Amino acid sequence: MRKLTYFIACSIDGFIGDPSGDGEFFTRLVDEEYFEFLKTEYPETLPTPGRQPLGIDDLENKKFDTIIQGRSSYDLALAIGCTSPYAHMRQYVASRTLEKSPDPNVEIVSDDVVGKIRELKQEDSEFGIYLCGGSKLAGELFDEVDELVIKTYPLVLGSGMPMFGSGFALTEFTLDTVRTFKNDVLVRTYQRKR
Ligand SMILES: NC(=O)c1ccc[n+]([C@@H]2O[C@H](COP(=O)([O-])OP(=O)(O)OC[C@H]3O[C@@H](n4cnc5c(N)ncnc54)[C@H](OP(=O)(O)O)[C@@H]3O)[C@@H](O)[C@H]2O)c1
Repeated sequence: MRKLTYFIACSIDGFIGDPSGDGEFFTRLVDEEYFEFLKTEYPETLPTPGRQPLGIDDLENKKFDTIIQGRSSYDLALAIGCTSPYAHMRQYVASRTLEKSPDPNVEIVSDDVVGKIRELKQEDSEFGIYLCGGSKLAGELFDEVDELVIKTYPLVLGSGMPMFGSGFALTEFTLDTVRTFKNDVLVRTYQRKR
């Protein structure tokens, strides 16, 4: 069975963006060494509008071949006129309000998102499923998350959008790998204890 991985950028105090969810300030801390890491190990997580100008649109997927994001996160791409922000993967957007997908490469999941993820996990593939966020969708899918890849940026926000928009519950994870970078970003990978 393949994994659902929540791959997410956050602050030292665990917020994925400001109170509205905006995390633009994280991307300003990306330097050459760290970008090389992302490009080499998680190239598919770089969105199409970022890949094209850098001439790296042909990078092969390494970890994921399928992505799911919430409608609010997808809205950020729509706002810049991009209807297929991860064109190199199979794309799902969770939404109860989007009646029709604006792009043939994006499928809307309007009911039973958990069921959809369980179905995708059953597929025979060497690649995993990338849970992009945001907070609300991650909260809804929390029980299905098998792996966390947390990119912690050296910032304290004080308040902001939490990693999971869900209620209080203790859930154990096992630390798998830790990587540190010259720009003081820390990337930790955790596996869920089942
Ligand atoms: N730091 C990072 O790495 C990172 C990554 C991704 C996103 N973000 C940030 O996260 C913010 C958005 O997060 P958010 O929590 O506000 O929203 P979100 O999770 O992106 O989207 C929420 C929407 O997804 C749909 N949805 C959620 N659960 C659903 C379910 N069970 N069934 C059907 N539809 C469901 C609903 O859409 P409808 O209202 O259409 O029904 C809901 O309003 C953005 O500002 C973005 O910048 C940060």
